[in-house]
Amino acid sequence: MSSSSRSYDSEDLFRKEVGFFFDTAPTLKDHASISKKLKRFIELNSHASENGASMRKIVCVTSGGTTVPLEQRCVRYIDNFSSGHRGAASTEYFLKHGYAVIFLYRRGTFQPYCRSLPDDPLLECFELDSDSNIRVQQSHAEAVRKTVMNHHAAHELGILLKLPFTTIFEYLQLLQMIAIALRDLGPHAMFYLAAAVSDFYVPWETMEEHKIQSAAGPLDMRLAQVPKMLSMLRKDWAPQAFCISFKLETNSEILLEKASLALKKYNMHAVIANELATRKEEVTVVTPDGKTCIRREVGDDIENPLVELLVEKHMTHVAGTPQNQ
Ligand code: PMT
Repeated sequence: MSSSSRSYDSEDLFRKEVGFFFDTAPTLKDHASISKKLKRFIELNSHASENGASMRKIVCVTSGGTTVPLEQRCVRYIDNFSSGHRGAASTEYFLKHGYAVIFLYRRGTFQPYCRSLPDDPLLECFELDSDSNIRVQQSHAEAVRKTVMNHHAAHELGILLKLPFTTIFEYLQLLQMIAIALRDLGPHAMFYLAAAVSDFYVPWETMEEHKIQSAAGPLDMRLAQVPKMLSMLRKDWAPQAFCISFKLETNSEILLEKASLALKKYNMHAVIANELATRKEEVTVVTPDGKTCIRREVGDDIENPLVELLVEKHMTHVAGTPQNQ
């Protein structure tokens, strides 16, 4: 068999797996209303800009881990590690750089502008005065003021759209919807894929409907591979968009090599390599031009210089992409 017919076969098989994933996934709840919100958000932001001259850039930031349900009426699931801190922090910096952000996040994970609030439950920030009126505790006042101010500003300007997911099915259906909706923006759109996405799943049609019974003894279950949708994003959904994926490893010795492989294999514009234990201190940006190590400065978030560098690279991408292609 020639190498070209072999690659055609594997491409064909991959597309079948993608088709199977979407055809058998449970229907996305609120599909119509999400689609409407998305359309309105893109219309509003793709025509607006600070000086009215150029298109505002829109970035889709994915954040948090996807779950893999083991039962259709889900009691148990497999989870992916991610607190959502990277996505939430990066969203704040993209907004600061004038981007409109579609924040695709796992329910219950960190939110933009809420990272400065204390770890204590929100109620700990408030107290009752002698007349039983609620007021913010003095020690938390500055953090709460900043959070409320930034949140309201993003809301009023209509530059932050938050879309939640829980399962791998919801995440990939939403990512596909967003990518196709952003396609017309060409190079002005960016994908910043910080979510921790499941590599294995139980296809809906082979999944038990009811709670799996423990009386049946040890559980023997075969998981199917989730097709890496990065290829679909680059080839079909939004081919001109600027795409950044992440590579997470726990073994530093293989991290950079795996990031370089992912860059080539999925034709990404950049891959951010990070190690689980040091992810808040150091990351390496791997691009076709080389590797740049970024370290956190004292008192700063690592996402600040990271986003700054990516914004620069995105500008170069926009300038280098012929328009109206
Ligand atoms: O949220 P925090 O606690 O702050 O942590 C941040 C982080 C460590 C989760 C983040 O920086 C990070 O590295 N996210 C990506 C984690 C991950 O899933 O890595 P991966 O090597 O398994 O996947 C690489 C890329 O392929 C990811 O961009 C993912 O979006 C994509 N992918 C993965 C699996 C799959 N089936 N399809 C995909 O497209």
